[in-house]
Amino acid sequence: MGDPHDRPGMYFTGATRRLAEEGLFVEPSGAVTIAGLPKLVASGRVDRDESDPGQIVTLGEGGTPLLRSERLARLCGVRELWIKSDATGNPTGSLKDRSITVSATKAREFGYSILSCDSTGNKASSAAAYAARAGLRCVVFCPQETPLPKLVQAVFFGAELVRVRGHYSEINAMYRRLIRSGRVKWYDCGTDNPFRYEGKKTYAYEIAQELGWKVPDRVLHPAAGGMSLVKTWKGFNELERLGWIDRVPRMTAVQAQECAPIVEAWARGDREARGIEKRPTVASALGVADPGLLGTRALETIRASGGAAVGVTDEEILLATRRLAQEGLFVEPSGAVTIAGLPKLVASGRVDREESVVCVVTGSGFKDFERIAPMVRIPERVISGYEEMLAVAATIPAGARDEPCGRRAPMG
Ligand SMILES: Cc1ncc(COP(=O)(O)O)c(C=O)c1O
Repeated sequence: MGDPHDRPGMYFTGATRRLAEEGLFVEPSGAVTIAGLPKLVASGRVDRDESDPGQIVTLGEGGTPLLRSERLARLCGVRELWIKSDATGNPTGSLKDRSITVSATKAREFGYSILSCDSTGNKASSAAAYAARAGLRCVVFCPQETPLPKLVQAVFFGAELVRVRGHYSEINAMYRRLIRSGRVKWYDCGTDNPFRYEGKKTYAYEIAQELGWKVPDRVLHPAAGGMSLVKTWKGFNELERLGWIDRVPRMTAVQAQECAPIVEAWARGDREARGIEKRPTVASALGVADPGLLGTRALETIRASGGAAVGVTDEEILLATRRLAQEGLFVEPSGAVTIAGLPKLVASGRVDREESVVCVVTGSGFKDFERIAPMVRIPERVISGYEEMLAVAATIPAGARDEPCGRRAPMG
């Protein structure tokens, strides 16, 4: 039969699957190194060497780019705008990786064999990846309408996917009941897991460090349950107490208008977040109709920091994904809401034009591909031969598309 890696189909399938077992989502062309390595070792060209897996379950998350954009600053109406891109800088393509790394590490440390969560999609694919990496099994519960790419990722990483009827908050209530019932011995990396908070606060460390320990006036974060906003604030407060920074930014939540319990509570001046009737939105990952106690914490964070909360329409969200694409950033609608929210806050006078603002963008465009694909037209015509190529080239207008824009923050 020979070496299965010698057969082209098996060659790629084997390597991509092995990478998926490690929690890495890689296309066949990108996986050839893993396919080639055993051959190099077998032929003696590469030394056999044991690598130390270490104790931390990591896929190289965090340390994501902080990018300045003059163009978006102008469009949004502020003096200085930075994009913190967890959408393009994390291993599974979303913010969840910076917190799931901590809970997967703890799951292994505590001797669990199964990692579990409920999720609007991104947490599920992240948990599945880190479970794979840690050698744990994984169970995820997602709403029926979760975007397919997130489900595919989770299943490809080997998770047991359970699709559940109903909206996320209903599923969350049932899932928490299951975990608390003691009928399953799973390590829950959902919203109740305190170790995940420690991962979330690293946003603050990275932003402060990359800006040379000069704190921006404001940080905007997409809010579902509100955990990211609250824990980013915690990170900034810790830095201030340690004397690394001399002030903390105003924390501002952005939600899809169709599902905005935190925004609505804040507008009413309420101290507690209440559950609302959820309507469908393009920002499916933010579809948390009842944020519970975390929502109340988010309100406290907004109030204590002098921040704000704003809701954005589906149309505004999709326009924001296009604006980010003009910066070279491929961001899913849920992850792009901050860029939709900022101009509204400026127009209403809640954000001063002189402010320096960090907008966090949180999920890759690949994560909600079906939502983005209809926004472009792929040409039907397929050319052949050099002459046709030349003819097409002659129709392309000359000249620059737009002025150049951004730069990356210097490390402080
Ligand atoms: C893309 C994206 N952005 C932001 C969030 C915000 O999450 P939270 O407010 O619950 O921390 C989520 C949560 O699922 C998400 O998937």
